[in-house]
Amino acid sequence: MIAHSPAPHADEIVVRPNGPLTGRVVVPGAKNSVLKLMAATILADGVYEFANVPDIVDVSIMAGLLAEIGVGTERPEPNRLVMENRGLLTPVAPYEHVERIRASINVLGPLLTRCGRVRLSMPGGDDFGSRPIDLHVAGLEAMGATFKFAHGDVEAFADRLHGANISFPFPSVGATENLVCAAVCADGVTTIENAAREPELTDLCELLIAMGAEIEGVGSSLLRIDGVEPGSMRAAAHRTVPDRVQTATYLAALGVTGGRLEIIDARPGHMVNLLDAFVEMGMRIDVTPTGLVASSEGRLSSVDVQTLPYPGIATDYKPLVITLLTVAASVGIVTENLYPGRFRYVEELQRLGADIRTAGHHAVVRGVPRLSGAPVRAHDIRAGAAMVVAGLAAEGETTISGVHHIDRGYDDLVGRLQGVGAAIERRNEQAAMPVE
Ligand code: EPU
Repeated sequence: MIAHSPAPHADEIVVRPNGPLTGRVVVPGAKNSVLKLMAATILADGVYEFANVPDIVDVSIMAGLLAEIGVGTERPEPNRLVMENRGLLTPVAPYEHVERIRASINVLGPLLTRCGRVRLSMPGGDDFGSRPIDLHVAGLEAMGATFKFAHGDVEAFADRLHGANISFPFPSVGATENLVCAAVCADGVTTIENAAREPELTDLCELLIAMGAEIEGVGSSLLRIDGVEPGSMRAAAHRTVPDRVQTATYLAALGVTGGRLEIIDARPGHMVNLLDAFVEMGMRIDVTPTGLVASSEGRLSSVDVQTLPYPGIATDYKPLVITLLTVAASVGIVTENLYPGRFRYVEELQRLGADIRTAGHHAVVRGVPRLSGAPVRAHDIRAGAAMVVAGLAAEGETTISGVHHIDRGYDDLVGRLQGVGAAIERRNEQAAMPVE
């Protein structure tokens, strides 16, 4: 069985400045896809095979949650999962698992469909702000579910969900995923207007279709799901879509060091607006049959950027973009439209000498020629990756703690950067302490 729920550790990442990055990086599968694929195994009995799975802690946490529910996970190779649903499911998602991972909310729709009831501990917020589930609840209610909230738990009930016309005020990724999973076996047709369109959602729809679901409009903001008989869904095999945020991370690293990187398995078509911004800043990016090739030379220009739902520039890219702007040639304004509180890492960048002012959901970033290395902390996955990129742009040594956040979403970030010439290493804090 896969090892479940590893505890946070005291490792640090140490980064020193060095010359241009050159070489090849292979981008692994997307965290924000594979976790949802794993949750979808609740929907049908059988054995599932997932390829291109990132070797990250969140996959282990999700496997732990699914083991409690009754779906087993094996990892025969680091990037392959075999999951088995034998049909003996317990529709309960306990607090110890749910509080560790936002994607645990993705078991709600599948469990309600499969078991007719579910008890889920309320998912908490993230470091960057509260993360409500009202859109998930309203959509499922429109499909006939009833809800009870007590003692930190949400309980949902439905004999069989029925089709409904749902229109989101905002294209929530998680709510779209939950409602699609609930609709695939509902009685009748469900339409979802203003649905999220992220490539990871398309990936989930492709798995569901391989399992027997009938979904039209995949990749568009209007989805139409024709419910099939619950017993007619079956297990399937699937290859996880490559991770666009990891691609962005290697591009950001290149942007601060200069050099030339070939990023294998990048999907430039999944990140058009971000790549346009990077090109405007002065990077050269060419699409290749296997991914992309990017090069960068000298100091980048500043740009203004705002985060938006897909296909806009994703909020998950923002810490990377801000870090690039800290050493760009003039002033860039970054506007966050998804999570008002997602600026905590700014204080860490300021410790490295960055000139950033925040006002509400805007950040004004004045580029300085070079950052100055210091100890900093990773507060979440993406902010952690941004600290690594900042370390590459800093004089002296930058030491990053809170590495367990980075491990949640990055598959060997240190090894991959070492492979293209970065002066970066992972150190165990205890091992590094002097012996008395
Ligand atoms: N929202 C509501 N009500 C809801 C659902 C969402 O108000 O019922 C709000 C949220 O509070 C937030 C916004 O809508 O302000 C976006 O939420 P969304 O539901 O779209 O995001 P999510 O499904 O919770 C996923 C990713 C996030 C990523 C967002 C936006 C996973 C596990 N998480 O979250 O990724 O930032 O979409 O693209 O897929 C990360 O990977 O580090 C990460 C945080």
